[in-house]
Amino acid sequence: MRVVLLCGGSGKRLWPLSNDVRSKIYLKQLTAPDGQPESMIQRVCRQLEASGLLSSTIIVTHASQVEITRNHIGYSVPILAEPMKKGTFTAVALVAAFIHAQLGLRSDEVLIVLPADVFAEDGYFIALSKLPKVLDATKADLAFLGTVPSQPSEQFGYIVPKVGSDIRSGDVLQVDRFVEKPEEEHAMGLVRQGALWNCGVFAFQLGFMLDKMKAAGFPWKFEDMLLQYPGLTELSFDKEIAEKSGNAVVVPYCGAWTDLGQWGTLTELFDRQVSGFGTVSPDSVNTHLVNELSVPVHVINISNAIIAAGPDGILVADKESSARIKEELLRAPLPV
Ligand code: GDD
Ligand code: MG
Repeated sequence: MRVVLLCGGSGKRLWPLSNDVRSKIYLKQLTAPDGQPESMIQRVCRQLEASGLLSSTIIVTHASQVEITRNHIGYSVPILAEPMKKGTFTAVALVAAFIHAQLGLRSDEVLIVLPADVFAEDGYFIALSKLPKVLDATKADLAFLGTVPSQPSEQFGYIVPKVGSDIRSGDVLQVDRFVEKPEEEHAMGLVRQGALWNCGVFAFQLGFMLDKMKAAGFPWKFEDMLLQYPGLTELSFDKEIAEKSGNAVVVPYCGAWTDLGQWGTLTELFDRQVSGFGTVSPDSVNTHLVNELSVPVHVINISNAIIAAGPDGILVADKESSARIKEELLRAPLPV
């Protein structure tokens, strides 16, 4: 079994501090058990190590982020460098080609893909280490971890179990379909139907991925993948594999889980209201200021807000709505 840790993307929902050069997973905004600042990638690697999974882990990230990755986690984990940003399917394909050609592993080797922007209890890592057995027992192509949604969010993938499945049984459920980031009304319907949020974990056999690569016209040889990377189509694993799968299962995960890729969830883990130069008045409830600039920012009587300032810009947003910055940036791109 190999764990594939996805460490790319630009993290636009954490703008202005996350960008194409320094993605969200390197922001040292969390606190380690020893009280030191910790990044998302450091946190997830610490948990993988505690679960005995770090020695089976391979990181895939953009070539421009290899050095920062080494600075954060050292040299213990192999890092594959994507020549450019081409989406999560393409990144996983690069790892599959490496595992197949360079490591010579068999096609029944199980790969477990994991996001780096995850906050979860240790039970999450225990649950995912059982996925190879689940695949073997169910003969499914794909296995997910799913958690019960707390609201009809547009930010997650939804896994709809087949009719008759009982999520309280704690058993593995057959999947009817997967819907990536539906609009709110659709999400409300899915929640009513008993859909689970996708925790970002995908388990499958190497042979399954090689078949999908062939179908997408991707090469199997690692060197060919690297050479052809710039010309490959940008594809997301959620859309290309999860949404199209007709033979998937989901393991319900009941512990704490959050995607840290947006200010609303990330700030829930902060142990202080102000990071950087500035102040937040005591009547500003549940408001956080993260300031990387050298000029002060003062916040007076604004509650439930995130104020984030850095060289790329300044965000002032209601926390609940802050993830909309991704669409705002697309609508009004920055001047070059
Ligand atoms: N190597 C690499 N290359 N990694 C990438 C790339 C890429 O081009 N794009 C994104 N990633 C990494 C991110 O760093 C993150 O660790 C992980 O892939 C998931 O990307 P996100 O951008 O955080 O995805 P998301 O949160 O919008 O949605 C995904 O995760 C949710 C759960 O956290 C989906 O899988 C949803 O279905 C899921 O619910
Ligand atoms: Mg995410």
